[in-house]
Amino acid sequence: MCGVIGYTGKQSAATVIMDGLARLEYRGYDSAGVATVFNGDLHLKKGVGKLEEVEAACLLSRLPGNTGIGHVRWATHGGVTMENAHPHVDCLNYIAVAHNGILENYQKLRRRVVSRHKLVSETDTELIAHLIEEYLVPGAPLEQAVTKAVKEIKGTYALVVTSTVEPNKIVATRCGSPLVLGLGKGENFISSDFQAFLPYTREVVFLDDGETVVMTPGKVHILSASGKKTRKDSVVLDVDLAVREKNGFDYFMLKEIFEQPQAILSAINQEKSALKKAANLVNNSQSVVFTACGSSRYASLIGRYMFSKIAHRFSDVIISSEFCYFGDSVDENTLVIAVSQSGETADVIEGVIEAQSRGAKILSIVNTIGSTLARMSDCVLYLNCGTEFGVAATKSFLSELVILYLLSFSLAGRQEEAEEELKRISELMDENLRLNNDEVPKAALKLAGHDKFYYIARGINFAVAGEASLKLKEIAYVHSEGMSAGELKHGTLALVEEGTPVIAIAPCDDTHEHILSNISEVKARGAYIIGLSDKPDKLFDIHIEIPRVNEYYYPLACIVPLQLFAFHSSIARSLDPDRPRNLAKSVTVT
Ligand code: M6R
Repeated sequence: MCGVIGYTGKQSAATVIMDGLARLEYRGYDSAGVATVFNGDLHLKKGVGKLEEVEAACLLSRLPGNTGIGHVRWATHGGVTMENAHPHVDCLNYIAVAHNGILENYQKLRRRVVSRHKLVSETDTELIAHLIEEYLVPGAPLEQAVTKAVKEIKGTYALVVTSTVEPNKIVATRCGSPLVLGLGKGENFISSDFQAFLPYTREVVFLDDGETVVMTPGKVHILSASGKKTRKDSVVLDVDLAVREKNGFDYFMLKEIFEQPQAILSAINQEKSALKKAANLVNNSQSVVFTACGSSRYASLIGRYMFSKIAHRFSDVIISSEFCYFGDSVDENTLVIAVSQSGETADVIEGVIEAQSRGAKILSIVNTIGSTLARMSDCVLYLNCGTEFGVAATKSFLSELVILYLLSFSLAGRQEEAEEELKRISELMDENLRLNNDEVPKAALKLAGHDKFYYIARGINFAVAGEASLKLKEIAYVHSEGMSAGELKHGTLALVEEGTPVIAIAPCDDTHEHILSNISEVKARGAYIIGLSDKPDKLFDIHIEIPRVNEYYYPLACIVPLQLFAFHSSIARSLDPDRPRNLAKSVTVT
């Protein structure tokens, strides 16, 4: 997590950087800071809180100069304090460093640095500023000092460095964290995400691990890992600028929930050749393994059911952070399907690197064009749902499901049939959203006093229970558990007491009869039942209506009212659903 940006050119660096940081804030909002170089001095301002709060308190955008760096933080080493906010500086206030990543040899480095330098923070990043200070030799270029300092650090980093010694220069380097160079006319940019500078240039170079960029307003060169000048081709991006508009909604999350009928249609709009290539990869593999985290993992679990039901293909789903422990079973006959909205999740990328090292092919399902995962895959299917600003995955989760439905049906040569039903669901979902946006807030308000919830489901809907529960934890800070209803009697039932809210996902599919029996079991122990179904039932204390869809498609119909339930539960608790505490949209640390 964390977002970094650097700018050198003719414009006010602080203005360009603040504009970019607003588009990087999805990567962290614990603190923010900007450092510029002006008249031979370093000017630095930083503070704790969301970007707009720090700006209101410190006026970051008013810093002088045409060269500078900026940072939004998601805390790793050191708490959320002013001192730990980036950029960090050396003892003499000559060098400023912003960092995304985490150093593994932090303790050792700290012991090495602490006796010789004045440390003001608990961060790993400040140690890098002091290492650069040690290697900075009068008359020698900044990049030489950065390259030497980097040799001492282990871990992941995207580093952006500026210095008063060479006032128009930015040096940036990466290992395991993304970094993109933006080439302008008389100005250059570097950032964790090209969206940060997309209003100024679309010509970019994606850096690889070990590479270092040295940029001034009129010149850029790239050094390879061995320190030699290297040529890299730029690409001109054909992507839309992510517009941070709420379009009349109070929150991005609610807007994105309401965008889902359209998201279905956008996801259907796939390059036919890409879908065909993806299906061939599945057909030509001996084993198929999904890997993903969080919501994308729940989507993968539904994909697994669909592969089995429609294509009769067995597959497994491995949490990306656990993937390395299964490496022994992966070889050149394995297809790994990596599912990730951001395409930058470090755990996913680490799993994919492990799989590639064993010869596996990679099919990825991602939203972000140009993301690290997309660039390392043999085949990519894009979600096409536009930028998702809410930290909680909503339209991206649904779009992942749509792609997995399309892929499953195309494996069986039935892609058109899936497209027809998905279009129909898009219309039904639109109506259902309006209905439930009136009804679901009442249920959320009624249950706002409860601090534990259970979501139960069977079969293909089991993963919906997990995803809905994750939403509630993430944005309403309520403990909840999403379970296979059949598992209740094996232990968890002991926790159900008078009034315990149990949200039962009970659509009219092949799980209906069975889930009703499970509902009876919990109701007999006093549970308060919120039943999600296209058919009312006397067992339900509250009935949340879903549209009737064809067999297999109920996860799409069920998740939407449950997203609304989590959203309104967050609002009922006076929380900010868009920026939940301790989290970030893109999880770039392992
Ligand atoms: O970008 P990804 O899909 O790889 O992200 C994976 C998870 O971090 C993400 O789905 C997370 O669980 C969501 N915030 C949940 O709403």
